[in-house]
Amino acid sequence: MRLNRYLARAGIASRRGADDVIAAGRVTVNGSPVTELGTVVDPERDRVEVDGKPVTLPESLTYIALNKPCGHVVTMSDPQGRPIATDLIPDAAPGIVPVGRLDAATDGLLLLTNDGELAYRVTHPSFELDKVYDVVALGVLAPAERAALETGVELDGRKTAPARVEILSTEHHLTRARITIHEGRKRQVRRMFEAVGHPVKALTRVRVGPVELGNLRPGAWRRLTEGEVGALRTALGLTAP
Ligand code: URA
Repeated sequence: MRLNRYLARAGIASRRGADDVIAAGRVTVNGSPVTELGTVVDPERDRVEVDGKPVTLPESLTYIALNKPCGHVVTMSDPQGRPIATDLIPDAAPGIVPVGRLDAATDGLLLLTNDGELAYRVTHPSFELDKVYDVVALGVLAPAERAALETGVELDGRKTAPARVEILSTEHHLTRARITIHEGRKRQVRRMFEAVGHPVKALTRVRVGPVELGNLRPGAWRRLTEGEVGALRTALGLTAP
């Protein structure tokens, strides 16, 4: 396996980022510094270290879908003592980390994996993986506001990438909509709707790429099927694990 792939699999960096780590002279193989980008390692035999610390591949790759309930935070530890999303998956597998972020107030699909390369690609906007959210927003969204969400609104001085917005229903001064984005900026959907004057009351992530939340109840989790893992990897330009 090429060394950059090994490092990416281990969650050190993206494959290109791993090249930088190698070029910077931070990697040793069996104790010898390696800066050659095309270096190949045998994961069974070779000892790889970055900055003097051993780097190993997960024994097996695990992919989990969790319906994160509202109120749970996506973090490793919370100073405010709020419940932590990963605690809902005891003993799933070592090294499992949440893929990207989901606000405490948002519920819905959170992927977790120990596949560092896939996690990186799901969250990086250049891979353009769809993230789909069901939104309940205050007020009635005018056609021009919907168009603005789709073409992009300014957040932190930078326009959001094109999005798709489908109006599901409008009732009692509330709009139910489904928005598809492929970026993952902080509180992005909430801030996009705020930017067009319609604060979000409830937000649920219902799909990440080919993986659907389906009828998983809040707090419940399941392993992705082989078909889902294959479809996710294909969508991200990766081959079979
Ligand atoms: N957008 C948000 O505003 N919050 C989330 O949790 C995810 C996307």
